[in-house]
Amino acid sequence: MSRKRVAILISGTGSNMIRLIESMAAPDHPAEPAVVISDRADAPGLARAAELGVPVRAVERRNGGTSEFEARLQALLEEADTGIVCLAGFMRILGADFVARWAGAMLNIHPSLLPLFKGLDTHRRAIESGMAVHGCTVHEVTPELDSGPILGQAVIPILPDDTPEALAARLLPVEHSLYPLALHRFASGNKDRFALL
Ligand code: GRF
Repeated sequence: MSRKRVAILISGTGSNMIRLIESMAAPDHPAEPAVVISDRADAPGLARAAELGVPVRAVERRNGGTSEFEARLQALLEEADTGIVCLAGFMRILGADFVARWAGAMLNIHPSLLPLFKGLDTHRRAIESGMAVHGCTVHEVTPELDSGPILGQAVIPILPDDTPEALAARLLPVEHSLYPLALHRFASGNKDRFALL
């Protein structure tokens, strides 16, 4: 069976992107990295992806506005013969038409236990909520922000003296386990929800 070609979209460090690429090197993996695209040409993750042998592209916002930006992004995805799009720290909200084009084929990782704490600043909001647990979610992308069907979630405790920075640092390695597993299952056609506890 042919492997699904995965485009990974980043804006910064790309640590989740690196883990996704590494995971796809496994024998019999149902997906393969096709391209890494950043909306910032200076994103540190681009150099790392290139070192790993994955084609990299930058698609920067120009004066043309959202539809022009998304048309260029779409062209890059098609050029790479993309079957699945993974958002991995891609800090740009995509328009409804673009999202509709990739319905059922675009994933995102969000650093909270959705549907709690959509949007930014999730670690501080989790601490301030008084909850005892926090976590991360991989979900399908739909036009409403951070609201698509949940594929997998992982949970960590919130410790008594946690700061947003400490909590984020403890969550990131858990994201690195969750996203590759979610992608493997998704590329295999398995959309059943799963939990890492
Ligand atoms: C991660 O915390 C991810 O959940 C969020 O943005 C961060 C990206 O980190 N969407 P990295 O670029 O993968 O290191």
